[in-house]
Amino acid sequence: MAKGTVLVVGGGGREHALCMSLSRSDEVEAVHCAPGNAGTHEVATNHAVSASDVTGLVDLARSLQTTLVVVGPEAPLCDALADKLAEFGIPCFGPVQNLAVLEGSKLHAKEVMSLAGVPTASYHVLSNDSDLDAALDQFAGSPWVVKRDVLAGGKGVVVTSDRDEAKTFIESSIESDGKVLLEAFLEGEEASMLVVMDGSGFVCLPPSQDHKRAYDGDEGPNTGGMGAYCPAPVATPEVLDRAISEIVEPMHRYLAAQPVPYRGVLYVGLMITDEGHPSVVEFNVRFGDPECQITLPLIQTDLHQLLQAAATDHLADLEVNFHDKHALTVVLAAEGYPASPVKGRPISGVSVPNDSAWVNHAGTGLDEQGQLVSTGGRVLACTALGGSLEDAAKKAYALLEKIELEGSHHRTDIGHRAL
Ligand code: AMP
Ligand code: GLY
Repeated sequence: MAKGTVLVVGGGGREHALCMSLSRSDEVEAVHCAPGNAGTHEVATNHAVSASDVTGLVDLARSLQTTLVVVGPEAPLCDALADKLAEFGIPCFGPVQNLAVLEGSKLHAKEVMSLAGVPTASYHVLSNDSDLDAALDQFAGSPWVVKRDVLAGGKGVVVTSDRDEAKTFIESSIESDGKVLLEAFLEGEEASMLVVMDGSGFVCLPPSQDHKRAYDGDEGPNTGGMGAYCPAPVATPEVLDRAISEIVEPMHRYLAAQPVPYRGVLYVGLMITDEGHPSVVEFNVRFGDPECQITLPLIQTDLHQLLQAAATDHLADLEVNFHDKHALTVVLAAEGYPASPVKGRPISGVSVPNDSAWVNHAGTGLDEQGQLVSTGGRVLACTALGGSLEDAAKKAYALLEKIELEGSHHRTDIGHRAL
């Protein structure tokens, strides 16, 4: 069989992890990345095409004679990248536009969940005509959860016990978007379930747990994710069985029956109650970042084989196996992240990768002198595999301690719920 030419779209830690795994595949001739970062530069060929430039990406995929495009972020999928690649017969790991709306519109996701009978928080849609005080009263007693119905780059959700803050966010969202969702607060512990799916079947990857708050003890502002570990013990075998029968199977039935089936990974953000009842907090139509960095290393099956199968509706023919190990990653963030990250500072002390510990690059680049510099809020993710979670944590933090980036910060308690 001819070897594949793969184009990975994006330039964060997730995409570096994808490029690293794909570059090790015996099935892959060449890995390309657009736009990539200083890490993907080591294992792939970077191209200066933005992840939001759908036309540029399609042109690039065609000129490279790409046999598979793997899309990291949601935005190009919401802008119909998969649809446009299909016009040229290029398989894409990532769903077509009208299925990417599962992430692009929270209201659409709610409507699909209601159709499919999937458990999620109850909600109201509020607009200019709504009685906001009556709606706030109805959900009073626990924090208010307000969600904008647009792709807002992680800034579209406010969870607050401050009624004025909730009301102000509702009013400003209605003003900019015409409507907003107010939903019931779900109690419990969160977990991320990544489900690779296509028209023929689905494969649940080991469940993981992200740490979304900036500071230790889950304090501080929300971020894209400050670290993660996998597997997450909160998703017990019983919880997973329920999540599969109550959430994944009905969603797959719905998504596989669409004119073009869902081909990619469905990120199911779960809330798990103390009684072990899972419900859906959110869907994303892509790998999580940093969940991707700690989930891929646990997949024993060749990653290209898995992604290519899902992009071409052959998943049901593939047996997917996992390593019986633990993975953990700690994000090193720039000074000022998440509010206003300082960029352009030199980075040193990044260790040479080995089989059990490596650094995933996120917001990094090379300056004119070839010096590694920071270019984003989340700069690096220090990732390790171990026989136990403690072992993985020790190795990941050992990597982090060697790195120097002025003003940077990180959490010291990644994995705390499980350790
Ligand atoms: P989302 O963008 O929908 O994932 O929301 C961001 C974060 O807000 C989630 O990871 C949760 O921590 C929190 N959140 C969202 N919806 C709820 C809910 N209904 N109940 C409790 N927390 C929520
Ligand atoms: N780490 C959360 C996300 O990727 O949405």
